[in-house]
Amino acid sequence: MLNPRNVTASAPGKTILFGEHAVVYGKPAIAAAVDKRAYVSIQEREDKKTHVTINNIGISGFLNIEQGTIELDNGENNEGILKYVLIALMKTGSKDGLEITINLDIPVGAGLGSSAAVTVATVKAASSFKYVKLTRDEIAKLAYQVELIVQGSASPIDTILSTYGGIVYLSRDAEKIIKLDIDSEIPLVIGYTSKRGNTGKLVESVRLKTESNPQVMIPLFNSMEALTNGAREALTSGDHKMIGEFMNINHGLLDAIGVNTDELSKMVYIARKKGALGSKLTGAGGGGSMIAYCPGKFKEVIESINEFENAFKLKISTDGVRLE
Ligand code: MEV
Repeated sequence: MLNPRNVTASAPGKTILFGEHAVVYGKPAIAAAVDKRAYVSIQEREDKKTHVTINNIGISGFLNIEQGTIELDNGENNEGILKYVLIALMKTGSKDGLEITINLDIPVGAGLGSSAAVTVATVKAASSFKYVKLTRDEIAKLAYQVELIVQGSASPIDTILSTYGGIVYLSRDAEKIIKLDIDSEIPLVIGYTSKRGNTGKLVESVRLKTESNPQVMIPLFNSMEALTNGAREALTSGDHKMIGEFMNINHGLLDAIGVNTDELSKMVYIARKKGALGSKLTGAGGGGSMIAYCPGKFKEVIESINEFENAFKLKISTDGVRLE
C-alpha cells in the first residue's frame, strides 16, 4: 500500500509586550511570536469520519464537519480547543474523512495564544490538504473569523502573530501591522501560573469600569498608547532602560484597570528584585502569564520564578505559520 498522504502545518504562540486591553479601545499594541508551536497533522480516513487527537492535553473526539458537532471520546462535554479545530475545518470547506493529530508545545491557558496557534495551523493544514494555497493575509483573516465565532469577541492580535511570526506593532484596531526590525534575541523571560484567566470576562469587567468612569479610565488607555509608542522606539534603538521602565509603568496601569492578581504580582516583583529592568503581566491577566525584560539576568530570574511557578527564556519565532 502507498504511504497515506500526511500534511502537517505549525504555528507559533504569542506574548503581548505592550498595550493589551488598550487595544480593545483602538490603541496600539506590540506583541511577539514565541518559539513554541502547535503542530496539526492531517491524514485521510477511509470511514469518512473525522477524528481529532490533541496530545499533551489528552483530549480527543469525533467532529462532524457537515453538521458542526463534536463528540468527545471520554463522553464529557469540555470541548475546549476542539471547537476551534471544527470551525477552522468548516471555514476551509473541508469534508469529513480526516484523521487529525495535534501536538502542542505551547502551555494551554497561560495566555500564550495556544488556541490561535491551533486555529492558524489547522487553517493552513486543512487548505493545503485540499491543495488550496492561501496567502498569509487570507489565513490570518480566516483564523480571526474562527476566533470570533468560537469566543464571541476577540482582537486579531493572536491570529496575526501566529500567522506572521516576529515582533509586530499593531496600530489602531490592527488596521496596520508593522513588523519591527528587532534582534530576535531580545532578553525576555516568561513566567506563567497554572491559574488561567478568562479573557472574555476580564475584557467585560474593564468595559464596565470604563462605562461607569470614563474620565478616569480613558486617560489610562491614553497613557498605555503613549508608552506603547515610546516602547516601539526604545525597542528599535535598543534603549534597555526605557524598555524596562515602560514595562513597569504598563504593569502599574494594568493593575489600575483591575486585571492583576497576587500570583502575577509575586512573579513581577521577584523578577525585578533579581535584576530584571522591567516586568509586567501580559495578555488578559486574571492569571496567565507575565514577562520580564532581563538583559544578563536570565538565570537568576528564571530560577527564582521556578521556585513557585513556571518560567522559561523567551525565544522569538521569526517564522509564522508554515508547512512542516
Ligand atoms: C488578550 O490576549 C489581550 C486583550 O487585549 C484582549 C484582546 O486584545 O483580545 C486583553
